[in-house]
Amino acid sequence: MKEPVRVAVTGAAGQIGYSLLFRIAAGDMLGQDQPVILQLLEVTPALKALSGVVMELNDGAFPLLHGIVTSDDPMVAFKDADYALLVGAMPRKAGMERGDLLSANGGIFKPQGEALSEVASRGVKVLVVGNPANTNALIAQQNAPKLDAGQFTAMVRLDHNRAISQLAAKTDSLVSDVKNLTIWGNHSSTQYPDLSQATVGGKKALDLVDQQWYEEEYIPTVAKRGAAIIEARGASSAASAASAAIDHMHDWALGTKDGEWVSMGIPSDGSYGIPEGLIYGFPVTVKGGKYAIVQDLPISDFSRAKMDATAKELEEERDAVRDLGLVK
Ligand code: NAD
Ligand code: LMR
Repeated sequence: MKEPVRVAVTGAAGQIGYSLLFRIAAGDMLGQDQPVILQLLEVTPALKALSGVVMELNDGAFPLLHGIVTSDDPMVAFKDADYALLVGAMPRKAGMERGDLLSANGGIFKPQGEALSEVASRGVKVLVVGNPANTNALIAQQNAPKLDAGQFTAMVRLDHNRAISQLAAKTDSLVSDVKNLTIWGNHSSTQYPDLSQATVGGKKALDLVDQQWYEEEYIPTVAKRGAAIIEARGASSAASAASAAIDHMHDWALGTKDGEWVSMGIPSDGSYGIPEGLIYGFPVTVKGGKYAIVQDLPISDFSRAKMDATAKELEEERDAVRDLGLVK
């Protein structure tokens, strides 16, 4: 059995937390041979609710769960954390865009970035789930001068999983038959779910569906799925979001399958002409805990326009949080 690792989760008493913590404790994120210590952060008024979640975690008698820390202080919750899942933030309501949450949630991520910089493990892997996830990741990263920029990532994996599921349904296939689609850009309605390299059962996806369906139905359905769930459920996605967070961290820690890629929101290094520094969804492979952008994919004019539009939105979000003094 390995030594336990420390997994910090913020917003631990919230909806996503309620699904996420039990999956981490069960070994779904880091493997069945990896014990974990959960370090749970909440705002002070939610600590009582969190104590109930802790009772339930204990009642699960998870063999891999070697300890639980709770706190309302990021300096405590992030101490020596090897993984940090930043979930705690306000969810959007019907009729809002995720960008509407910038000022409400932006302020959460500056102090959390500062605390991670001071006390987390030097190799900490950070995933931002709280919306607007890409720009919140940028805020945390810019306020963590003692960590590497690449340690901060944002979740577009839920979009990636939604894109797989919609394509599998359309082509009457299994989700496991779908490979190598990409979510480019922002976790917002400007995201670009790109099927140009995707395959289904080894066949090119775009030979199996017509272009009009792809452009007019598929892309908007994936991009607006979060709003559809809010409309139907009266609350934003939670179990599927937790599952996507597990997938993101699992693949970052343990690697992607040979010949396959996944989508992660990571700092742009200028690849594919995306402005450097933006936290942007890219196709990545992971080996030995390090991700790399899949290079040299052909980009059509259609793709180029979509990729630039979502980059532009991220630049606007960055400029807005710069005006709030949250990034340089
Ligand atoms: P929720 O309201 O049920 O829970 C959020 C929790 O965060 C609450 O318990 C709250 O007390 C806590 N919190 C607030 N400020 C905090 C702080 N400074 N430190 C620690 N905890 C804090 O919301 P939820 O449904 O769990 O969603 C959480 C966030 O995740 C929202 O912003 C939502 O929009 C986002 N989300 C993102 C994705 C994605 O794909 N990236 C998917 C679903 C939801
Ligand atoms: C989602 O995509 O389901 C989440 O980001 C919640 C939302 O606001 O859409």
